[in-house]
Amino acid sequence: MLDVRGLKKVYEGSGRCVEAVRDLTFTVAAGELVCLVGPSGCGKTTLLKCVGGLLEPTAGEVFLAGRKVAGPPPGMAFVFQEYGRSLFPWMRVGENVELPLRQKDLSRTRRRELVADALASVGLADAAGAYPWQLSGGMQQRVAIARALAYEPEVLLMDEPFAAVDAQTRADLEDLVRRLWRERGITILFVTHDIDEAVYLGERVVVLSASPTVVREQLEVDLPGGRDQVHTRVAPRFAELRTHVYEQIQAAKRGAAGPVKTDAPPPR
Ligand SMILES: Nc1ncnc2c1ncn2[C@@H]1O[C@H](COP(=O)(O)OP(=O)(O)OP(=O)(O)O)[C@@H](O)[C@H]1O
Ligand SMILES: [Mg+2]
Repeated sequence: MLDVRGLKKVYEGSGRCVEAVRDLTFTVAAGELVCLVGPSGCGKTTLLKCVGGLLEPTAGEVFLAGRKVAGPPPGMAFVFQEYGRSLFPWMRVGENVELPLRQKDLSRTRRRELVADALASVGLADAAGAYPWQLSGGMQQRVAIARALAYEPEVLLMDEPFAAVDAQTRADLEDLVRRLWRERGITILFVTHDIDEAVYLGERVVVLSASPTVVREQLEVDLPGGRDQVHTRVAPRFAELRTHVYEQIQAAKRGAAGPVKTDAPPPR
């Protein structure tokens, strides 16, 4: 579904030149949930913006279902890191969710149905008439997720969407993403700097190096599909995987090249 080949991004301007992403190659199959994890500032947002067609790569290419991405492709939706800035405060929740649907050739009735359905699936059926600023942070982020869902994307890109919410809300939102993924069969690329979150959510974890970024390792998460916050996080295999990823990231920060030998058992 997604094919990222030799992606490189160098920011240039005002006499400064930052090589954010050096050489990234990975694929995401249709219906897969992949987490990208890497140290802070390693270029995760840059990468997602290139994948979403919001930024032009310096070199390399991104393909969505075999077609080269050049500008935001119709089948993709984005959930940004800062929910506070991603909703329009002067529009009601329902209008915010409906906004991207106006680009689609849909009847008014169908648009209303999609909005109601998306809000119901994030547990906010009653909030359509409220303004975003009347909701809590976690609820606002659920509105942003509903807006992406209503659009019925094939691919959902999520950039540290839960970084700014409290731990309990975050756990609920993680479970919401897993549930929506299982119910709707969407392809999800989820970026986080949180190792536990990456292992808990992902079917596969792509570990990135420090900037200038390359793919350091890819790890299959062989935990059962039906995960829950209580049991999954205390499972011995969960601990092994998170320790392994943690050690890779620590090594990445020290600048070691390629995967290092770790104390955690190697991936099965
Ligand atoms: N518009 C820009 N112009 C110049 N440099 C930029 C720009 N955006 C990002 N950078 C640089 O590119 C590098 C990667 O930034 P990016 O935001 O992609 O990292 P990140 O992994 O998303 O960080 P975080 O974990 O803090 O969200 C950083 O060194 C940053 O300073
Ligand atoms: Mg970022």
